[in-house]
Amino acid sequence: MTTTTFLLNLTVMAVLITTVASQQYTNHTVGGSIGWLFDAKNNISATNYSSWASNQTFNLGDYLIFNTTTNQTVILTYNDTTFNNCTTDDASDDDTFQFSGGNSEFGKSLTIAVPLTVVGPNFFFSDAEDGIQCQRGMAFQILVNHGLGLPPSLNQPPPPPYVAPPSPDTSQSPPVTIAGGSPSLDNGASSRLINLRFLLPSLLLCLASVLV
Ligand SMILES: *[C@@H]1O[C@H](CO)[C@@H](O)[C@H](O)[C@H]1NC(C)=O
Ligand SMILES: *[C@@H]1O[C@H](CO)[C@@H](O)[C@H](O)[C@H]1NC(C)=O
Ligand SMILES: *[C@@H]1O[C@H](CO)[C@@H](O)[C@H](O)[C@H]1NC(C)=O
Ligand SMILES: *[C@@H]1O[C@H](CO)[C@@H](O)[C@H](O)[C@H]1NC(C)=O
Ligand SMILES: *[C@@H]1O[C@H](CO)[C@@H](O)[C@H](O)[C@H]1NC(C)=O
Ligand SMILES: *[C@@H]1O[C@H](CO)[C@@H](O)[C@H](O)[C@H]1NC(C)=O
Ligand SMILES: *[C@@H]1O[C@H](CO)[C@@H](O)[C@H](O)[C@H]1NC(C)=O
Ligand SMILES: *[C@@H]1O[C@H](CO)[C@@H](O)[C@H](O)[C@H]1NC(C)=O
Repeated sequence: MTTTTFLLNLTVMAVLITTVASQQYTNHTVGGSIGWLFDAKNNISATNYSSWASNQTFNLGDYLIFNTTTNQTVILTYNDTTFNNCTTDDASDDDTFQFSGGNSEFGKSLTIAVPLTVVGPNFFFSDAEDGIQCQRGMAFQILVNHGLGLPPSLNQPPPPPYVAPPSPDTSQSPPVTIAGGSPSLDNGASSRLINLRFLLPSLLLCLASVLV
């Protein structure tokens, strides 16, 4: 094999590795170095969170890291009515979730990691101070893409349905097929396997060119 072929293979490998690397899960620190904070003195959010969010790509399995204090809350909702109303008062437990650090004292530092597990619009706000923080900029929306799908760690299927053990007199009956089972879920592992499959031939080629 010529040096040119070897270099070509290296290039192909580099491109493939970059492609794989760009599909890793990402942790997004909300507001960057500023964090998730309300500036009580100026009665406004510490930064423009919509503007922060507009500048990045969010995928399933990514985390939003809220670097904050107990003066703010972190509410995730999939319901734009709840979001636009800046309150959880009428919200349903099915579509709205509060993340907290379990400290009721004001002003304590807190880091809250929120995994992104649902594709589509995800809305975040702080409902502290009766919605004033939210009205004054502590609110943003993101669009979550499929990306690699959920990683196994966030992809826990529900436990299988309970099946009563056979009683002695029915033990001769044929086995029962349980319909349903776990719903079909996104599987990040299989996407990664596909990536590796693409990578492998190039890896072998490259090894071969080193050996020849
Ligand atoms: C992202 O955040 C999660 C939750 O805090 C953590 O488990 C994971 O290690 C972080 N990943 C990176 C690459 O920092
Ligand atoms: C979180 O905020 C504190 C100050 O509020 C800062 O010292 C720290 O570097 C921030 N962490 C990150 C990951 O931005
Ligand atoms: C902050 O602004 C809101 C209007 O969005 C107002 O109702 C509230 O009184 C203001 N708070 C302070 C402390 O100025
Ligand atoms: C925040 O930034 C967005 C654009 O990303 C802009 O539309 C909006 O008016 C800004 N909000 C404030 C309060 O400046
Ligand atoms: C997006 O981020 C890049 C660098 O991180 C910055 O140069 C650019 O101005 C940002 N754009 C917006 C709209 O915030
Ligand atoms: C909006 O919030 C107010 C309280 O701030 C509540 O009375 C009202 O029912 C809410 N509306 C909806 C549609 O959730
Ligand atoms: C969104 O939440 C409101 C209450 O805030 C509720 O009335 C409405 O039905 C919800 N929308 C959906 C699509 O569930
Ligand atoms: C946090 O909230 C408490 C009570 O409202 C207030 O006294 C304190 O100044 C706030 N801290 C910050 C950093 O805004």
